[in-house]
Formats: sequence, C-alpha cells, structure tokens
Amino acid sequence: MTSISIIGTGKMGSALADVAARAGADIQIIRRRAGAGSSSERADAEYGVIGDELTGDLVVLAVPYEAVADVLARYRSRLRGKVVIDISNPIDFTTYDELLVPADSSAAAEIAHEIPGAAVVKAFNANFGDTLATGTNGTTPTTVLLAGDDAEAKIAVVALIEAAGLRAVDAGPLSRARELEALGFLQIVLAAIAKTHYESGFTLLP
Ligand SMILES: NC(=O)c1ccc[n+]([C@@H]2O[C@H](COP(=O)([O-])OP(=O)(O)OC[C@H]3O[C@@H](n4cnc5c(N)ncnc54)[C@H](OP(=O)(O)O)[C@@H]3O)[C@@H](O)[C@H]2O)c1
Repeated sequence: MTSISIIGTGKMGSALADVAARAGADIQIIRRRAGAGSSSERADAEYGVIGDELTGDLVVLAVPYEAVADVLARYRSRLRGKVVIDISNPIDFTTYDELLVPADSSAAAEIAHEIPGAAVVKAFNANFGDTLATGTNGTTPTTVLLAGDDAEAKIAVVALIEAAGLRAVDAGPLSRARELEALGFLQIVLAAIAKTHYESGFTLLP
C-alpha cells in the first residue's frame, strides 16, 4: 500500500484524497492553518498543518502555482527522496492569457529545478477535479496523463492512479510537462468560455 501527503485542501486536494482513498493509500492532508475551517474532515486521513513532517512517500502540491514557492520554502530539504506530484496549471488567472512560467519551460521543470533531490512527476493537471472524484469523464473512465524522468516514481504514480480505477497514460519525460500544461491551459479556457464543462473536459480514447 502506498502513502500520500496532499498539501492543500481545495478542489484538487479534495478530489485527490478521494482518488487516494479508492486506491487504499495511507492519506495525510496538510492544511494551511490548523482547524477544519469550512471543510469537513475525512475519517480516512491524518491531518497536519503546513510545516509538519510529511508522512507520504508521494507528495502532492495541491496549491495554486503562485503558492508553490511558499510550500517549497517550508519543505525543500524534506522533499529529498520523495515523489513530488505537480498538478499545477501555471496560468495568470487575471487575464487567462499569460503563463506564470517562461514559455520554453514548465511549472514542473521550475519545481524540479528547486528540489533536485526529489523525483517530480507531472500528473492530474489535465483533469478537472470532478472527473477524478467520480472516476469518469463523460462516458469514459478518467484518463490521467503524466510525465516524468524517474521511472520508479512514475511506476508509483501509475499504481496509485490504476488502483483508484482510473486510466494512466505515460506521456514521456518531464519535458512533456510543457505540453500537458498547454493542454490544461486550453481545457480551462474552454470551460471558462462555456465550450466545455468543469465536470468533464478532454478525454483520450483507448
Ligand atoms: N480545480 C481543478 O479542477 C484543477 C484541475 C487541474 C489542476 N489544478 C491545479 O491544482 C492546484 C490546486 O487547485 P485547486 O482548484 O484545488 O485550488 P483551490 O480550490 O483554490 O485550493 C487551493 C488550496 O491551496 C491552499 N493554499 C493557497 N495558498 C497557500 C499557501 N501559500 N500555502 C499553503 N497552502 C496554500 C489553499 O488553502 P486555504 O484553503 O487556506 O486558502 C487551498 O487549500 C492548482 O495548481 C491548479 O492549477 C486544478
């Protein structure tokens, strides 16, 4: 059984906790502040506050890209040896037109540069949260695209995805994160202008 620490309790943190629960993982959820706030607590997870030790072998950065630097500042040295899952779409949401990373880079590449001892895997950024929580996208099982340079890390992420009843498709090395982030960007823009729904999005047919 795998163990996972999810940093962030928003839409994606919650959806990925559902995924991890379906996969039978040990779940730690890291909140920004102590206390449940407006969100209800899961009975199947341990809770911590940002800065606490991370108990998961897999660590999900389920925070906005703008907040990743804060999180890495807290955890940089403690992420050594972990599989770090970057789910972000680094979009300037004030314009829906600009990236927050250089056009020849990606959020995943920027994050990997900051935490050289960790194995960064890009995954889940091209899935809306609802399709992860339900396990379906339209009439098909939800497909999760991923990319990374560390084969063992990708095996662990694929195992999590498949154990949760989702389909995993390895898109290649971490350099493919740029294309995955472009896909996520386009999907969000299409939903924002009502050409698709936040409950569905792109799918990849077998
Ligand atoms: N929404 C989607 O369907 C979707 C799909 C694919 C990828 N993504 C990506 O997933 C990531 C999370 O998105 P989301 O939709 O889940 O966002 P969200 O619902 O706004 O939740 C963001 C979470 O990050 C926490 N947070 C914000 N700033 C923080 C900081 N400086 N330190 C620690 N925690 C901080 C928030 O804490 P508080 O509750 O205390 O504010 C909240 O728990 C983003 O990178 C996004 O691009 C989202």
